[in-house]
Amino acid sequence: MLLRQTRPEDLDGVIGLEQCENTEPWLGTTGREWHLQAIDDPDVSHLVFVKAHRGLDSEDSSDEELVGFVVLAGLSKPGPIEMRRMVINLIQRGKGYGRQLLNEAIKLVQDMPDRDRIWLDVNPANEPAVALYDSVGFEQCDVPEGVTPVDGLIYLDFEL
Ligand SMILES: CC(C)(COP(=O)(O)OP(=O)(O)OC[C@H]1O[C@@H](n2cnc3c(N)ncnc32)[C@H](O)[C@@H]1OP(=O)(O)O)[C@@H](O)C(=O)NCCC(=O)NCCS
Repeated sequence: MLLRQTRPEDLDGVIGLEQCENTEPWLGTTGREWHLQAIDDPDVSHLVFVKAHRGLDSEDSSDEELVGFVVLAGLSKPGPIEMRRMVINLIQRGKGYGRQLLNEAIKLVQDMPDRDRIWLDVNPANEPAVALYDSVGFEQCDVPEGVTPVDGLIYLDFEL
């Protein structure tokens, strides 16, 4: 498995992962424009999680299988990182990929300088996501500073 920067040509696949049952209702804004803005934003890291059957240095993505993606935000200043979105392909769920992707994302943030925690928001009715975050060590926290709380969501964080 490989976590790499999302390219514009990945977006059809990424958007396809969102437009599924048990997926879109748990996400905020979806669609191409949201992802294009995320890719262009220096504060954001948009990463695809792929099964790659090739050397890691290759730019050739033709033999990759898109398993999921993760979007991290808060890169442009020191302090907490927000895990803004994480999705695993509906047909690949329940096989451990979500846990793998989350652990890879945590490792990535641990390697960034001046980071203390990762936070996210989640709908408490989203049982698979809540159970995953809980099992990895995320705990409920206050609404992060500067964030406008959204009704119906809870906030979790993971101390690095
Ligand atoms: C949440 C999500 C990423 C989990 O991905 P996944 O690949 O199915 O997760 P895994 O197979 O790695 O499972 C990891 C843990 O998640 C929890 N989990 C996964 N599926 C679950 C389910 N259907 N019910 C309850 N818990 C579940 C379990 O704790 C599981 O650990 P276990 O296998 O040891 O019991 C996936 O369901 C998803 O993409 N959902 C839609 C998008 C979303 O809700 N994203 C999060 C909010 S932004």
